[in-house]
Amino acid sequence: MDRDRKLDTDFIPLSLVGSESPGWDGEWRDGALADGFSRPIKNLRISVTDRCNFRCTYCMPEEGLTWLRRDQILSYEEIERLARIFTDVGVEEIRLTGGEPTVRADLPVLVEKLSRLPLNSLSLTTNGFRLKELCKDLVDAGLERINVSLDTPVAEKFVHITRRDALPQVLAGLEECEKYPQLRPIKVNAVAVRGFSEEDVLAFAELARNRPYVVRWIEFMPLDADGAWDRDDVLTGAEIKAIIETRYPLVPIADDRIQVAQRYAFADGAGEVGFINPVSEPFCATCDRIRLTADGHLRTCLFSTWETDLKTPLRSGASDEEIKQLIRSAVWRKEMKHHINDPGFQPASRSMSQIGG
Ligand code: GTP
Ligand code: 5AD
Ligand code: SF4
Repeated sequence: MDRDRKLDTDFIPLSLVGSESPGWDGEWRDGALADGFSRPIKNLRISVTDRCNFRCTYCMPEEGLTWLRRDQILSYEEIERLARIFTDVGVEEIRLTGGEPTVRADLPVLVEKLSRLPLNSLSLTTNGFRLKELCKDLVDAGLERINVSLDTPVAEKFVHITRRDALPQVLAGLEECEKYPQLRPIKVNAVAVRGFSEEDVLAFAELARNRPYVVRWIEFMPLDADGAWDRDDVLTGAEIKAIIETRYPLVPIADDRIQVAQRYAFADGAGEVGFINPVSEPFCATCDRIRLTADGHLRTCLFSTWETDLKTPLRSGASDEEIKQLIRSAVWRKEMKHHINDPGFQPASRSMSQIGG
């Protein structure tokens, strides 16, 4: 299905529907958070740091990024308060991201604070480098799900794409996750880059068949700090699926939940793979996500060119109610879709490592 086209024709902004619609500064009929296109917003991704111990080529430059100062970054107490306010207005799922979230000291302390909130899911996206040492503390603190980025199972290629010689640590981190049944499914994210990823596709299929990992391929998006993205570098989910099916037939898994990945099981029942196809099959029409940056700005789209500063009001004594109004107002203006495929595409105002994926 061309979900992007569907979105253009099916979406009518509530603001055009008439006076029954909730205004941006008004109360919502059922109290839940929704945007101006009637999409319910339930999923918050919180970036806890802009720093990272890797330098993935599709994300960060080798050097030269300026880091946020410590005082610019929200404290765990500030994140906890904002997260509580977000759950008050309808957020049900929180995912912690970075940069690399595990490079921030005492991450389990934050997980423990957030685990007390009324959430359906508390999860983490990590490069896995520090998981062997941290996994137990994170699970004990209440972490419920984990997604680990791993772009290639080949050591030399790993060094090339992450600019770090760290494949053994990431594999050890993944193995550590297997010890905690609470964390299933363990998801492995691989960014697909043409000319680099094709030869790894079957090896990743084996990983998905032989280990308790759901391997998901993500299409390369124009969010790299170097600005080197080229449409020709995008290896599509359909192309990867075709490579897998040269050896292993796949069958779609029906799943009505809102999610970015299309899920497939191996026809013989041995494991699952997924395809996240934001470039070739945008899923903006069902997007239920917003993001909080490490310096306390609310972003309503991965590709936003504007943000809402929540940190300044938070630090200058704003009430919960005032912050809720800021959130509702920003969410109301959430972008209809990304414009990667449109002429005149404007890059996001931050690169991936500063947003958190
Ligand atoms: P679950 O499916 O709930 O496990 O999480 P997830 O897939 O949303 O989280 P994860 O951090 O593993 O995200 C995988 C990748 O999907 C991200 O790094 C992005 O590359 C991409 N992605 C996630 N959310 C969005 C989104 O809102 N828009 C776009 N275009 N891509 C997204
Ligand atoms: N395109 C697609 N995915 C990306 N990620 C980082 N940069 C890009 C990009 N340009 C993914 C990482 C990780 C998550 C945080 O974001 O691989 O899974
Ligand atoms: Fe770090 Fe993740 Fe960006 Fe790689 S993709 S440089 S691991 S933030």
